Amino acid sequence: MMSGDKVKEYEKIKQVYNENPNGADLLFLCRSCYGGVVRFRKADGYMSTPCGIHAPISPREFSERVSIWHTRTLGTEFLQMSYEDAMTKTKTGDLVYCDPPYSHTQTILYGAQEFRLEKLFEVIAECKRRGVYVALSIDGTKKSGKVDCDLPIPKDLFEREVFVDCGRSMLKRFQMDGLTLEQEHVSDRLLLTY
Ligand SMILES: C[S@@+](CC[C@H](N)C(=O)[O-])C[C@H]1O[C@@H](n2cnc3c(N)ncnc32)[C@H](O)[C@@H]1O
Repeated sequence: MMSGDKVKEYEKIKQVYNENPNGADLLFLCRSCYGGVVRFRKADGYMSTPCGIHAPISPREFSERVSIWHTRTLGTEFLQMSYEDAMTKTKTGDLVYCDPPYSHTQTILYGAQEFRLEKLFEVIAECKRRGVYVALSIDGTKKSGKVDCDLPIPKDLFEREVFVDCGRSMLKRFQMDGLTLEQEHVSDRLLLTY
């Protein structure tokens, strides 16, 4: 449990982590950093995200979630590889879920400048050809449905589109710092190749 000035203590832990990267500090930083978005500097791997304005999840609640996810992920194999490689390994009948950077708001947040949605669409098309099912969550409507986000989606790639209600926008909640969020309802668009 952390005590003392929140930002000062956060920066101290961030410094310790950057001098000697370790799992325990990274876990703390993930829970407390701005928007929960951990950014590493490209040049030297320095973790640079500032302190979040939210109250981080308590260690007790966090521990409960870890237990739940421990059970849920039993028997799961986690692999670190590019999405191109991972999707190429799939076989007919497999299901792939893609949650790429949202083109309208997250380019800077996730340092995703190298990410190209067009390339992902190509890989999805290749999966579809092999009988692999793909679900893709991507920009839906923002500003309570007043703004529609258009994307360069290839014709005939997706068979269905569903909108999943995500409640209030997490990002806006941080940015507006307590102001009313009535206008900021977000729905994610889930595109399905089947
Ligand atoms: C919408 S977030 C996914 C959030 C995740 N599903 C979760 O629940 O935590 C988009 C993710 O894409 C990652 N990303 C950015 N560029 C990428 C790339 N070229 N290849 C794979 N992932 C990338 C970002 O780091 C970010 O974690």
